[in-house]
Amino acid sequence: MRRPSHPARPPSPRRARRPAAAAAVRIGSFLLTLGACVVVAAHGNVTPQAVDTTGLAPVGQDWLNVNPYSGNPKAVEIGSSGFNQNCARCHGLEAISGGIAPDLRRLDNDCAGMKDKAARDGCVKDNDDYMITTVRHGRTRNGAVYMPPFEGVLSQEAMWAIKTYLESRREKPLPEAP
Ligand code: HEC
Repeated sequence: MRRPSHPARPPSPRRARRPAAAAAVRIGSFLLTLGACVVVAAHGNVTPQAVDTTGLAPVGQDWLNVNPYSGNPKAVEIGSSGFNQNCARCHGLEAISGGIAPDLRRLDNDCAGMKDKAARDGCVKDNDDYMITTVRHGRTRNGAVYMPPFEGVLSQEAMWAIKTYLESRREKPLPEAP
């Protein structure tokens, strides 16, 4: 009976080039990873998720420029899942930025140092307006989409819930009293 033949491999001239080939593969996969990050940052080509806001008071048709849910624990909970499904792929899980997009825990940092409560509240309101405008319209610069628009994808309730969640994640928590 014949044994299955396992012809010895011819001595490989490629062997000598292996380290170079391995380096090429490593560089290639690095470039792929980099490319994937750029694609996500540039096009946001991941399907956005609708957010169930049951349990939050509806805010009506008009766009508000101040967060109606600040401090509302239900909004923090809904906003946490809304953020992690829609924003985290760029802004980082739990809002800890990996570097491709701004760290949103710092959104209200400038306000935290303000001693005067009225000034602080005004500062946070300005940031509410800035945040909702950014989320509605996204960010396009020189024709490149850095952040997709979320108007028509997320409800206004979902956007404010996400802001409320971000307030719960502030890098510099605001003082309770002036
Ligand atoms: C595809 C990636 C991507 C997604 C998804 C995304 N963002 Fe952004 N976002 C960016 C980038 C990049 C910037 C900075 C844009 C610039 O430099 O003009 C930004 C900027 C912002 C800013 C302004 C921050 C600042 O300090 O000026 C806010 C607020 C913001 N995003 C909120 C959100 C929220 C909330 C979501 C989810 C509903 C979201 N983003 C989803 C990429 C993204």
